Amino acid sequence: MTANAQQGSSAADTTFSLTDNATSETIELPVISGSLGPDVVDIRKFYGGTGKFTYDPGFTSTGSCESKITYIDGDQGVLLHRGYAIDELAENSDFLEVSYLLLYGELPSAGQKKEFDATITEHTMVHEQINYLFRGFRRDAHPMAVLIGVVGALAAFYHDTTDIQDSRQRMIASHRLIAKMPTIAAMAHKYAIGQPFVYPRNDLSYSENFLHMLFAVPCEDYEINPVQSEAMDRILILHADHEQNASTSTVRLAGSSGANPYACIAAGIATLWGPAHGGANEAVVHMLDEIGSVDRIPECLAKAKDKDDPFRLMGFGHRVYKNYDPRAKVLHKTCHEVLNDLGLDNEMLDIARELERIALEDDYFVERKLYPNVDFYSGIILQALGIPTHLFTVIFALARTVGWIAQWNEMIEDPHQKIGRPRQLYTGERQRSYVALDRR
Ligand code: ACO
Repeated sequence: MTANAQQGSSAADTTFSLTDNATSETIELPVISGSLGPDVVDIRKFYGGTGKFTYDPGFTSTGSCESKITYIDGDQGVLLHRGYAIDELAENSDFLEVSYLLLYGELPSAGQKKEFDATITEHTMVHEQINYLFRGFRRDAHPMAVLIGVVGALAAFYHDTTDIQDSRQRMIASHRLIAKMPTIAAMAHKYAIGQPFVYPRNDLSYSENFLHMLFAVPCEDYEINPVQSEAMDRILILHADHEQNASTSTVRLAGSSGANPYACIAAGIATLWGPAHGGANEAVVHMLDEIGSVDRIPECLAKAKDKDDPFRLMGFGHRVYKNYDPRAKVLHKTCHEVLNDLGLDNEMLDIARELERIALEDDYFVERKLYPNVDFYSGIILQALGIPTHLFTVIFALARTVGWIAQWNEMIEDPHQKIGRPRQLYTGERQRSYVALDRR
């Protein structure tokens, strides 16, 4: 097949023609322009017109939906939420304001912000029966396993918000998920360490309340350090959404069948758990721990470059960013601020800094455009905040819930939305006759 693009005067006039070299048949496909980023070739009629499927494992060239929420230019290292640059949001906004922006499309007015903060705060408690659900898990369970189970089970508690065609129910479910995730995440931690659950406090901000539920105990006062709560808030902002990544696509795919929001978010959490996605920040800390000292970095780099070794440098590389991840830039700065403010001299940061310096000069990493990603620094900050490693991905899930839920709402309101059903290139056996057991 050969292809050529014909540029028309407007998006509607532009087509992309594909010729099948075997039959000389040509198909004209419409080209659609967005507001930013590459045009897309609309292949919805491709199978009907040619009898062929397109083949794109990993969806590296496939746009799966139309979206107005997040824009990424991976080559330039740009990330925009509803048109606002991530570094500006991280600098000036707070997590609940970014949540409002992602959900509703605009920054809130002062009144809207106050109302939204109050709504989320009023939904932070979970049904008391959920306490007993926790007790069914082993204490040494990974909190991500617990999170998947408990979030999925919310559909069994909040029946009044599972009609996905009702926009009011969808919005209440969205608020509930954003509000209850810190409570559930903190409960997963308390359960794992054998401490009593700590109820939310409505006089605290979102991030302060999360730290309170994680670290307070009933027998003494817990004082929140503003450096810690601001760093936590920044980490949440930086993880709030990231376009059509694996977990978000999972949420959309699950939602495309009409599944309820709690089930869809549980599916997203399951996808996020993998080390190639949200599990990477935990893997970064394990890797830095294993390296142990700066003089062992060359050995680690050699391992990462060895094609016979499956080891990869955790926190480096990204499917979309072929430049510095803009979130890593913000966190690099935050990381230094947090360690200075808390007076921590962190050997892990020395190893991280040196690893970054060497990798950014190394031909292997330079040629493949492998830069540090957001996970590289978030792991170090979370550790400095006293967060146990097994909670890193849980915190990522907590933050990403707003992105998932915004994308899920957008999908349901999309008039072109259909159940997601990819096709395949079948390479298995052709039809053959069954062979009786005694003749095999
Ligand atoms: N260490 C060493 N080599 C790497 C790394 C790495 N971290 N990442 C990619 N490469 C190499 C690959 O081996 C490949 O080399 P080749 O061309 O010689 O075969 C080349 O770079 C391209 O890699 P791909 O696997 O094609 O890149 P892809 O876009 O599929 O993968 C991914 C992206 C999964 C993030 C990958 O870079 C990786 O595994 N990184 C480490 C895990 C990590 O940090 N994940 C967090 C992602 S960010 C997030 O989820 C928030």
